Amino acid sequence: MINNKIVTIERHILDSQPDSARGDFTNLLYDIALSAKIIAVKTNRAGLTDVLGRAGSSNIQGEQQQKLDVYADDVIFRMNDHTGRLCAMASEEHEHFLEIPEQFQKGSYVLVFDPLDGSSNIDVNVSIGTIFGIYRTVDYQKRGRLEDFMQPGHKLLAAGYVLYGSSTMLVYTTGQGVHGFTLDLEIGEFLLSHENMRFPETPQYYSTNHAYFDRWSKGTKEYVRWLQNNERFQLSERYIGSLVADFHRNLLRGGVFMYPSERNRPNGKLRLLYEAAPLSYIAEQAGGYGSTGKGSILDVTPDDLHQRVPTYIGNRALVSKAEELLARHDQ
Ligand code: AHG
Ligand code: MN
Ligand code: MN
Repeated sequence: MINNKIVTIERHILDSQPDSARGDFTNLLYDIALSAKIIAVKTNRAGLTDVLGRAGSSNIQGEQQQKLDVYADDVIFRMNDHTGRLCAMASEEHEHFLEIPEQFQKGSYVLVFDPLDGSSNIDVNVSIGTIFGIYRTVDYQKRGRLEDFMQPGHKLLAAGYVLYGSSTMLVYTTGQGVHGFTLDLEIGEFLLSHENMRFPETPQYYSTNHAYFDRWSKGTKEYVRWLQNNERFQLSERYIGSLVADFHRNLLRGGVFMYPSERNRPNGKLRLLYEAAPLSYIAEQAGGYGSTGKGSILDVTPDDLHQRVPTYIGNRALVSKAEELLARHDQ
């Protein structure tokens, strides 16, 4: 007899929240899971329907938006604008934060999201993802304001990601460990498949875009050499170019992902609010660590919605070594 328990994400969210958090917060997590299912369906049909290719517009970062970026962004907004649970949202795809329309009630939570991560991989059928984080509003009597988003990652109440890969997975934390669910397409439910995820003690991989080697600081170059010549861990390299997929693989296999400071991009590429902070919270909950190279990403208070941050994330021992070598070689 198979005695693995069958647990849906809805049941898990409900059972792992204290009674005081039942209601808005649990329902908000459900709604994110439902958005993920809708986006997964579209993603899985991407080769069949007219969703591949560029949308013909650029986002605030000046990047070409893909049609699926726009679709995913729209689904998450429309799922959450009218529920009375949020006081505002911010998406990587919008210059300003998104207000809850006047006709709807506002709530006391703030949602940040990267609707489609790894969008350069959409057209070539490589894994992509969604990343989200939830904060509490700074002042629940007011409608959403920019201050609601200028909170460091250690104030996150929940964070998670969805990976649209060979199967669709949703991984989340509310500060009580990291739990992973796989979408069963036949019944349309996310089922618990990875309970209490932890970085394995012995890491296998490091992940970075080596094309930028010449633009890195001395400390970062020294760090990569240390990773390459590590007798204790014998690391191999893997890099997909979709942060969610790279992070997820390293969480399962152990490793470090980095997108460091570069000569012309001192803060690297990744966005603090939508990418680095939520994944750092997940990493810490899984026994790992996310660093700017100088200190915890979770301690960085944003001063801009689209702020970027150098990112080193994964097994704590590997990330701490980056801090040590950067401190030694970069002044
Ligand atoms: P997004 O598609 O949300 O803009 O994010 C892309 C990011 C991230 O997913 C990935 O780690 C990184 O871009 C890859 O950048 P490079 O192509 O410069 O390596
Ligand atoms: Mn992204
Ligand atoms: Mn994106």
